Amino acid sequence: MNLSQKILGVTFTNPTVLASGIWGITAASWREVARSGAGAVTTKSLWLKEHQGHRNPTIISTDYWTLNAVGVPDAGPEKAKEEIGSFNEDKPVPLIANIIAESIENYGLTAEEILKLKPDFLEVNISCPNIEDEFGRPFACSAPDAAAVTNAVKAVSKKTPVFIKLSPNVENIGAIAVACAKEGADGFTVINTVGPGMAIDLRSRMPILANKVGGMSGRAIKPIAVKCIADVYSATEGKLPIIGTGGVYTGEDAIELMLAGASLIGIGTALADRGADVFAKVCDEIQLWCTNEGINKITDLIGGMHKELASRKIETVSDTSTS
Ligand SMILES: Cc1cc2nc3c(=O)[nH]c(=O)nc-3n(C[C@H](O)[C@H](O)[C@H](O)COP(=O)(O)O)c2cc1C
Repeated sequence: MNLSQKILGVTFTNPTVLASGIWGITAASWREVARSGAGAVTTKSLWLKEHQGHRNPTIISTDYWTLNAVGVPDAGPEKAKEEIGSFNEDKPVPLIANIIAESIENYGLTAEEILKLKPDFLEVNISCPNIEDEFGRPFACSAPDAAAVTNAVKAVSKKTPVFIKLSPNVENIGAIAVACAKEGADGFTVINTVGPGMAIDLRSRMPILANKVGGMSGRAIKPIAVKCIADVYSATEGKLPIIGTGGVYTGEDAIELMLAGASLIGIGTALADRGADVFAKVCDEIQLWCTNEGINKITDLIGGMHKELASRKIETVSDTSTS
């Protein structure tokens, strides 16, 4: 089966995407990931100026979850220019540039700066939960703030599609997606890390992370990612592409996120477990599953759960109640 798709004018040979903040920030590491089978790469979050991250320890992992409080460190735009420029020389796969800022105005300025490097998509990180000490609640936690950031970025990004990276840590992610869509968002990345969470060292009785709290990723967050993707897909009537991200380790995980509404699949924490060739492995597993199920087109999977519910005249999931 052919795994390729064209999304907003960009061709992806397969749906897997290196998630933001994982596997370094250099052209060499993006090339390595592309050689290992990724359909696209996302840069770590890029700031307008150099930004210091948090003190170590910044990461703790178990088999089920990872907590990270790296604090979005970045060497600044000169380094981004160098690395993205080098990657662009023979760009093996599409590049998604992820940007972040501390104010709405600076989102616009950062987008302007990074667009000069000609990324295929802009991904706007408004949802990092581990820099709340520094900057307060993420913009993704308020519909008017999320809409204002979208407006500022869309004002300067006339041609390059803009994906807003949403937070699961909200009451109604669908309403936030709709607010961004009204300002011209071209797509969404769903989700960023969950929480923040905390882990305590029993002997010292101290939080393990120097930042005390960190965003949660990995296997344990997949059901939250599935629900958030389903909500965003429903709220936007399946009209805007979604990069589904959160807890994907296997081809079957990827298919589940596609049935909820994702077109592309971000993979982050699983790299530590399954290695850089997790992308090729996930693609092989998607192929195998689709062959066994008699599915010929990868795009037939996207939003499949919603179609199934509709065919049975069952309302799709869109509210936040659990009881
Ligand atoms: C160590 C680490 C660093 C991350 N850095 C970023 C970042 O710079 N920008 C961003 O938008 N997301 C960042 N994320 C979030 C991931 O891109 C992804 O949304 C999240 O980890 C869920 O996917 P996963 O379960 O496959 O890891 C980071 C995650 C981890 C674990």
